[in-house]
Parts: sequence; structure tokens; C-alpha cells
Amino acid sequence: MQHPVSAALIDWYHRNGRNLPWRNTRNPYHIWLSEIILQQTRVEQGRPYYEKFISTFPDIVALANSKEEKVLKLWQGLGYYSRARNLHKAAKLVASLHKGVFPSDYESIRALPGVGDYTAAAIASFAYNLSYPVVDGNVYRFLSRLFGIQTPIDSTAGKKEFLAVAQELIHDAPPHDFNQALMEFGALVCTPKNPECEPCIFRSSCVARKKKLTEQLPVKRKKQQVRDRYFHYIVLRDGNNIYLRQRTEKDIWQQLWEFPMVETKKRLTPESLLKEAGHYFRTNAAVMSGNIQTARHQLSHQTLHAAFYEFTLQKKTSVPSDWKKVSRTILRNYAVPRLIDRYLSRELES
Ligand code: ADE
Repeated sequence: MQHPVSAALIDWYHRNGRNLPWRNTRNPYHIWLSEIILQQTRVEQGRPYYEKFISTFPDIVALANSKEEKVLKLWQGLGYYSRARNLHKAAKLVASLHKGVFPSDYESIRALPGVGDYTAAAIASFAYNLSYPVVDGNVYRFLSRLFGIQTPIDSTAGKKEFLAVAQELIHDAPPHDFNQALMEFGALVCTPKNPECEPCIFRSSCVARKKKLTEQLPVKRKKQQVRDRYFHYIVLRDGNNIYLRQRTEKDIWQQLWEFPMVETKKRLTPESLLKEAGHYFRTNAAVMSGNIQTARHQLSHQTLHAAFYEFTLQKKTSVPSDWKKVSRTILRNYAVPRLIDRYLSRELES
């Protein structure tokens, strides 16, 4: 028999769920794409990207046959670029290993790059109606509050406990609708801040509400530290060209382009930056403008403090071999992080 909580959730979802494009399809390629985009992106922000990817790559083989650069460029602005690289890798794998047909069993879906337990359950249930519950931040929050579960969600015991509860709820429920409803409820009603407790359909049974624990749940064991990083960009212009460098390190923004830069743990003075720049090119061949733009860029666990130092070359000088001279007219063809994109819009196109 279907659990009363599942029945109530699904009923609520049919009356209140948003009409989102990936909810009106059973196409596994479309569903997979939407789930990768929505992993770390809000629905409103992700939606135009979903539409753009589908129109650019009508099927997974078209995506597999694309150049990675093109995928990254299309992804520009969404952040967490490993998602885009894994998207491309997974498409190639489906094209070769699965002959272009998206796999239809949980284990094969879970084996694709970029697909974890949560995403595999979402695809398996939405595309194939398989009974795997989705357990993500929204779900931890809702279940911990409704049942008053205080086990930390970032502990092995907590993960096991929440999964078991979700499995019990999905049992005998229609998997597609149950998972959509579960996600939607956490996104629209049982929200992190100011949840809609008054009109909530579970207000009389919610343990957190009864015990006044709503704000404290879910429990997390450790708070991840935020790290400060100082990026000093060298914006070196040479006539109508500007120098870029591709990030190849195992770090944020792998394979994206940015200006050559010096990273330190503390902010440098213009004098120290000039000295550092001297390791790369003959600074007396260039004029440094007094215009130093600064910007802060927040990632989930890093605060980037950026400073853009502008130089104009007057004489010939050599630069490191991985600096690429790019004409201003084609600068916008390069996939760049949002921090750089904003600078380009502000400084170079005004
Ligand atoms: N977040 C993750 N998957 C989602 C989905 N299918 N619909 C809405 N939000 C989501």
C-alpha cells in the first residue's frame, strides 16, 4: 500500500508543481541534460541553458561529436565547469559504448561520468519510471523536519537512514511523480529559510514544527571552511590584441581562458605585482595604466579577490609560450569564467 505521506505529496504536486520543460518529456537525453544543469544551478538560471543545449545538440551523438571547447562555451556562466566536461565525456561514452542509445538500467546510468546516486535516481525514475528515490539537499531538509530526524546528513549513518526512509516512501508509489513531488516540495514549501509552514499540508504531523526545530534541521556535522584566494590579472594589450592563457591546472575553471595571472595568499601592492610581472615579460616595454579594477567573486568554498592590472605594450618583448595573443574581435569566442566575462563587458566593450 502506498505510504500516506507519498499519496499526500503527489496530490500536492499535481495541484502545485511547476510546469517545467524537462517534466513533459521521457527523453532520457533531455532528462539527463536537465539534471546535470540543475545539480548546482537554480531552475530559472538553468532553463535557458537547457533550451540552448537541446537546440544546438538535438541528440546525444551530436553532443558527443562536438568539440569540448564548444560545449564549454555554451556552458559559460553556469559555473562548476567539471559538469560540462563530464557531460561531454558521458555523451562520448554513450555514443561509443552504448551505440548512441542512452542506457536504461540504473547501474549503467550511474556509471556515466558526472552522474552520482542522486542524478542516477532522477534519470532512472523520470525517464524509465524505475523505483529509485532521489535524496538531495531538498529531500534531507524535508524528511529531517517531517520526521524530526536529527542524525547529521553528512555522516554515513545519516545517509543510510535518510535513504531508507525515502525508499520506504517510494515503495508502491509511482516513481516519476513521487520523485518530482519530493523535489518540488523541498524547493517550494519546505525551503531552507522561511518555509511555508502555515499552509503546509503536513503542518499537523510535522515533528520539527511540533518541537520548534524547523530552523535547526537538517543537522550538519561540519561546516566547510571558505578559503580566500588573491588573483592578480595581467591584462596585457598589444595593439588590437590581448593576451589570454588557458587554465590547465587541476583546479577551478580547468580549460577555461583568462588573462595571465599571479596568485598569492595576500593582496599584492602594484609595486610587488610589477615585480612579479617582470618574471614574464620586460615590464619596461609596457606602460602600466593606473586603472586597477578589483572584483570579488564568490564560489561555494572560495572567495576570489581579483585585481586587473592593465598594461599596454610599447616595444617588443617575449612572453611565456602558453600566453596566447588573441585579436579583440574574436576574444568573445573563448570560453571564460564569469569573473572574466564581467570584466570584459565592463572594461573592453564600453
Ligand atoms: N532540481 C534537480 N532536478 C530537478 C527537476 N527535475 N525539477 C526541478 N528542480 C530540480
